Amino acid sequence: MVDVKPEIRSGLEGVYFMESAICKVDGANGRLYYYGYPIEELASKSNFEEVSYLLMNGKLPTRSELESFRERMRDARYIPDEVANLIIELSGRSTPMHILSTAMDMIGALKGERSESNSTYIDIISELSSVVAAIGSISAKKGYIPPKDSLGHIENFLYMLSGEIPDKESVEIMDKMFILHAEHSSNASTFSAIVTASTLSDIYSSIVSAINTLKGPLHGGADEMALRMLADLRGKNIPKYVDDTIASGGRIMGFGHRVYKSYDPRATIIKGILESVQSRASEEVRELTKTVLSLEGVMTDKLSSKGIWPNVDLFTGPVYRYLGIPPDLFTPIFAASRAPGWCSHIQEYWKSNRLLRPTVFYTGEVGKKYIEMDKR
Ligand code: CMC
Repeated sequence: MVDVKPEIRSGLEGVYFMESAICKVDGANGRLYYYGYPIEELASKSNFEEVSYLLMNGKLPTRSELESFRERMRDARYIPDEVANLIIELSGRSTPMHILSTAMDMIGALKGERSESNSTYIDIISELSSVVAAIGSISAKKGYIPPKDSLGHIENFLYMLSGEIPDKESVEIMDKMFILHAEHSSNASTFSAIVTASTLSDIYSSIVSAINTLKGPLHGGADEMALRMLADLRGKNIPKYVDDTIASGGRIMGFGHRVYKSYDPRATIIKGILESVQSRASEEVRELTKTVLSLEGVMTDKLSSKGIWPNVDLFTGPVYRYLGIPPDLFTPIFAASRAPGWCSHIQEYWKSNRLLRPTVFYTGEVGKKYIEMDKR
């Protein structure tokens, strides 16, 4: 008897698996809200610590709530010596994303307890930034730079990365970039975190699942790939590159999205940042900007009718290059900024946890006879 084939939603497109109040991605209209607040408002008026509080608590903090949240984040900035040594050991032998997931797994292993408290989430948000900064500073041969208590989260992140107190403009830009990447509903890495959490595994293991899922070039890894593509395209025939890539079934990095069928609002803001720094930018960044704007024009002519528009990863690389960040740190920084989103979803899911376990439609045979080795 043959089973009736059910409707199969490839890539789980359009499948709802839970209710959530955290984030609305309005793909048709290109709008994004964290707990109801439009991303444009948060990017222009808020800061990463406040947005992290919002994502963990569902409301904006009062002055004193924010101050104690900041204190908690500040206390959690220090990473264990064993983890700093692990990063030193792996630096140059592994990719920054591999080092990041291994280091976060090690922090979880050293803590060794399962915890669902807000405190663990705050630890993770802080530790992720410190680990990413340490990966960057160690790879740049500056060694592990311990955090500075007097600095805010983003200022400290940039300080731990470079060893220098960052200027105001760099802090403002990086703060906006962290806010823009902080949360995005049931994207692949968040879903991955929730799948792991749904087994009642621990928070660190769930975050490590998310980091390893973010790494892929169809998801967070696209920021580094898009930058490398833009650098390669300098002085080349862009319409031909687009035609050849599409003809061979390839993807143009930094374009397209499962949910947005219009311009990604995060890309609009990041493009604005990039345009605003042109007069102070290096030749490299100005060339990248020219290339990215030409590519955007070509892609809009060719593919916007199919709902393919720039996504968050298109303009991110040139902005990070403006801040002097090397391309292989882009995706780790994405992970550091997505930490509150992942934590918020794990916390929400655990309020009414159920094991996530979908079904496949089996198309193979049943009841086959086992054939002995010498008769095959
Ligand atoms: N370049 C060329 N064609 C594309 C692109 C692209 N970037 N994106 C989608 N398409 C085409 C695709 O070939 C397909 O065409 P057809 O219907 O003729 O076969 C159609 O659009 C639908 O594509 P899909 O793969 O079914 O769409 P999806 O929802 O599964 O994929 C995506 C979404 C993000 C994986 C995809 O757009 C893509 O590969 N983009 C490039 C990688 C990228 O920039 N990823 C970052 C995504 S946003 C940030 C994040 O999630 O981290």
